[in-house]
Amino acid sequence: MASLPESLHETVPAGSHELAGRISELGEWFHNLNLHGVPTAPHHFLGDFPNIKWRQIAHAIPEDLTGATVLDVGCNGGFYSIEMKKRGAKRVLGIDVDDRYLKQARFATETLGFEIELQKCSVYETDCIPGQFDYVFFMGVFYHLRYPLFALDNLLKKVGDTLVFQTMVRGSGEVQDWEDDYPFWNTQIFEQRNFPAMYFIEKSYSHDPTNWWIPNRAAVESMLRSSGLEIADHPEPETWICRPTNVKHEGRFVVERELDGTL
Ligand SMILES: C[S@@+](CC[C@H](N)C(=O)[O-])C[C@H]1O[C@@H](n2cnc3c(N)ncnc32)[C@H](O)[C@@H]1O
Repeated sequence: MASLPESLHETVPAGSHELAGRISELGEWFHNLNLHGVPTAPHHFLGDFPNIKWRQIAHAIPEDLTGATVLDVGCNGGFYSIEMKKRGAKRVLGIDVDDRYLKQARFATETLGFEIELQKCSVYETDCIPGQFDYVFFMGVFYHLRYPLFALDNLLKKVGDTLVFQTMVRGSGEVQDWEDDYPFWNTQIFEQRNFPAMYFIEKSYSHDPTNWWIPNRAAVESMLRSSGLEIADHPEPETWICRPTNVKHEGRFVVERELDGTL
């Protein structure tokens, strides 16, 4: 067993050093989970994450999810999967591309005794997963993708009832109604900070070279609507609860029509 890092000593209850050692062996955690009193990421740069975020979102999702099915995309250490299972979800499938995070999620769910399926799968490959899910969590992944709108449109095939969407947002937090169309010579709209826009990060942001596209609020909301989603709630600045009201046209998803050139 790896010896406990100095930084964890103060956060580990007496008698839990073996558990803390196993947590430490699984590498650096992004999710601060409470495993029988032992925190997995007590020194997270965002604080007690994602608990601090969940506290602002939790009320926007039904407390009783008995019988519901959940897909957690980019599940990481399994925080949201576990919260959904705690609310009684019948089936929870967490997917991620990173083996380290999947191992952490496996360890956390087993340690806490939750039956959660975990699978190595990219958001781009969700077509391989049969059927739809009542709830799809797409939290903290969008801005890590080079092809974010493709991922969103494709993922909508899996959303039976609700999409819980979270992204980093930067720039203006204001929204307004825009005209349906503008003349070619109107360049002024692009000078306005609240016009829908995504910032492209060529190199790195927050020491993370996988932060590619960071939208402002108007861009998030217009993309969600343009993908055929209705925004039902916006419980905190980075999270939107959406319903797929208009994702199909003439029986076909937007992404299918775009890819075969019939959109
Ligand atoms: C910032 S973390 C967010 C974790 C968690 N969903 C949350 O909101 O706390 C991003 C996660 O997305 C995963 N990820 C990145 N690219 C992905 C992809 N193409 N498909 C699925 N997961 C991906 C990463 O491995 C990581 O676990």
